[in-house]
Amino acid sequence: MGKIIAIANQKGGVGKTTTSINLGSALSSSGKKVLLIDLDEQANATIGLGFSRELIDISTYDLLVNEISLEESIYKTNDPNLDIIPASIKLARVATDLFNVAAKELILEKKIQSVKEVYDFILIDCPPSLGVTSENALFAADSVLIPVECEYLAYDALTQMVNKINQVQAIQNQKGKILTIEGVLLTKLDNRNIFGYKVADKVRELFPTKTFKTIISRSAHLQDAPMQGKPVLKTAYHSRSSREYRQLATEIIKNNLESNQ
Ligand SMILES: Nc1ncnc2c1ncn2[C@@H]1O[C@H](COP(=O)(O)OP(=O)(O)OP(=O)(O)O)[C@@H](O)[C@H]1O
Ligand SMILES: [Mg+2]
Repeated sequence: MGKIIAIANQKGGVGKTTTSINLGSALSSSGKKVLLIDLDEQANATIGLGFSRELIDISTYDLLVNEISLEESIYKTNDPNLDIIPASIKLARVATDLFNVAAKELILEKKIQSVKEVYDFILIDCPPSLGVTSENALFAADSVLIPVECEYLAYDALTQMVNKINQVQAIQNQKGKILTIEGVLLTKLDNRNIFGYKVADKVRELFPTKTFKTIISRSAHLQDAPMQGKPVLKTAYHSRSSREYRQLATEIIKNNLESNQ
């Protein structure tokens, strides 16, 4: 049974998409079958995996708004273990188009069931907002991975994110399935600056059992890879960034083995 992980934080630019692409690639290189669902109208994950917007007919917009099944919207990437459902700029109007639709936050949850057996991990790259698109991701997901940039003001967004998770859990409580926190991932750590380490310590204090051991350092490799339309494991396998995302994948695989026992 596949594990569905939403990668979410309403704060922009914290590394959600970078993590979706590179964690997806690292899980796939460990032999896991992975589906990446791009729910952000910016389509950064889609573009970062080498797709151009113009060549995409069916996107996550169609999945949410039209009578399209999840299977019909899956595209293959260059990596045989990594598939994607791409995003489109049309996602910008999802809230308007779903305005009168009942249970609009549960559309993805219903559709995703059909492929849960096909993949080991389904990663959902969320937009930097907590609107109906992110709600669809949170209700469909088993857990949330929250990337947090090692900088000042990081916790404020973290508190809002945790409040949102609590809200979803409260609604789910009546139904049995409960969203959990997969982990808080510290990102963009500048190793030359003591300040980033202070933020990391503070986040660890707030989430002692939920902060991943792996920290993602700040690195130009992670900015360069999407320009080549590839994950960092493909552009610079031996770089520190590639190693860190592979470590994160190992940590997640191990945590999930333990929690299934
Ligand atoms: N560890 C890192 N080191 C250096 N640059 C990074 C790192 N992680 C992400 N970046 C860069 O920071 C920018 C924002 O990253 P990313 O797109 O992954 O964040 P995001 O949370 O998905 O943003 P948004 O909220 O806009 O969707 C990008 O230019 C990306 O290349
Ligand atoms: Mg993004």
